[in-house]
Amino acid sequence: MTAPQKQWILNAFAMHTPGHLNPGAWKSPVDQGYRYKDIKFWVDLAKKLEDAKFHAIFFADVLGGYDVYGGPKNLVPTLKAAAQLPVNDPLYAVSAMAAATENIAFGVTASTTYDKPYLHARRFSTVDHLSGGRVGWNIVTSYLDSAARNLDLETQIPHDERYLIADEFLEVSYKLWNGSWRDDAVVKTNGIFTDPDGVREINHKGKYFNVPGPHISEPSLQRTPLLFQAGTSTAGKKFAAKHAEVVFVGGLDPVLVRKSVDDLRKQVAEYGRDPRSIKIIASFSVIIGATDEEAEQKEKELLKYADLDGALALFGGWTGYDLATYADDEDFRFVKEAAIQSFVTHWSKYVPGSEGKVWNKRTIAERISIGGLGGAAIGGPEKVADELARWAEIADLDGFNLSYTTVPGSFDDIIKYLLPELRKRGLFWDDYAVPGGTARENFYGIKGQSYLPDDHPGSKYLWKAGEEQPDLNSADNISK
Ligand SMILES: Cc1cc2nc3c(=O)[nH]c(=O)nc-3n(C[C@H](O)[C@H](O)[C@H](O)COP(=O)(O)O)c2cc1C
Repeated sequence: MTAPQKQWILNAFAMHTPGHLNPGAWKSPVDQGYRYKDIKFWVDLAKKLEDAKFHAIFFADVLGGYDVYGGPKNLVPTLKAAAQLPVNDPLYAVSAMAAATENIAFGVTASTTYDKPYLHARRFSTVDHLSGGRVGWNIVTSYLDSAARNLDLETQIPHDERYLIADEFLEVSYKLWNGSWRDDAVVKTNGIFTDPDGVREINHKGKYFNVPGPHISEPSLQRTPLLFQAGTSTAGKKFAAKHAEVVFVGGLDPVLVRKSVDDLRKQVAEYGRDPRSIKIIASFSVIIGATDEEAEQKEKELLKYADLDGALALFGGWTGYDLATYADDEDFRFVKEAAIQSFVTHWSKYVPGSEGKVWNKRTIAERISIGGLGGAAIGGPEKVADELARWAEIADLDGFNLSYTTVPGSFDDIIKYLLPELRKRGLFWDDYAVPGGTARENFYGIKGQSYLPDDHPGSKYLWKAGEEQPDLNSADNISK
């Protein structure tokens, strides 16, 4: 008997900005990215993606501008291209999208470096209430100096310390979400709304945060939002292994991604968690048409609108390298600066079809302007499905975050051409596993699994109905 085919998680990767991973696309007559501030745009998109049974819309976010290229502190190319700026807060639109849908989940990026866990916990509890338990949190530690400067710092907190802050941030969050209110604290009987014995302080005193509590929102359907994480450094993986339920990975080559995935699953097991329960999804850009030729034609058309300086501004923010001082035709595989050379040599080795290709400012920018630094596939339904399947198999993935080159056009094409092909191959579900369920129920495919699973460190804090509050500050409550 053959093992049943694993079905993928598919999310739509979006951002509240005119240009997410497609700087300049707003000039295309078919792109509606400029409507990012129109609530109807988001509601219609959520309904469309839910009809197609996407698991979630996953919202990226940043807290500053990309000002490295031609910099320092130069926002000119970013502003001209609308390269992730202007950018609005992604959380506000979720309630409206949730009101118009019943199943699709919403992954929202929020940084542990600049927020306060007490305020953050209430915001996510609120949206979890209003969405019927369909919110996820993409935990990031941020990477832009421009954000740090605007948030009372001269420069960024060192990388690994940001993860220590994140770890304590999560500990406080679990205490607030799971341990501050008893499951049956809200009684609404005999003239009492909340049983005062069912609400307690958390008394968290730590290195970075002091939060006495109690949480001022009552428990939502999931209590803790579904926990996404993106960040694959050594410290990032350690953090993910302990806290994340869905990990979002970038990368150009599935063989290299696999090494990271294997390492991550190994560390998950070391935390006493089921390594298969952590879902790994890759960032992927798809340009698809009825045939390979039609898709290639679409790519050519898109490249007419790409804003190459905007793409290099994104590159500068992501990598810290300012390519402005180089000539347009300089081949970076051979430049003197070792860091850039090694980055581009790596890049040229792994971008499919780049053998012998010159990697200069233009070619790097063109590649970024159609999907950023993740995987990409251009072709008809079979070619794209083959490429995704190759990635899923080699990198041991559970699914993909599909980015757009034009919005909603890319999703229309994915729905029309890609999903039928994936369904034909048994790789994508026909319907939600738990219709009307929470984000966690649908991602795990288990009805009743709305709270963190028992093997997750955050579940230790859960204050169950009819029980005493767990000792939230006992040393063995959270594994370090
Ligand atoms: C695929 C992917 C998507 C990311 N999306 C965001 C984002 O939307 N906002 C953000 O601030 N950071 C984002 N990050 C950055 C990470 O969360 C993390 O803060 C950063 O990569 C530094 O951590 P690392 O060195 O462990 O990767 C993303 C990272 C990856 C790999």
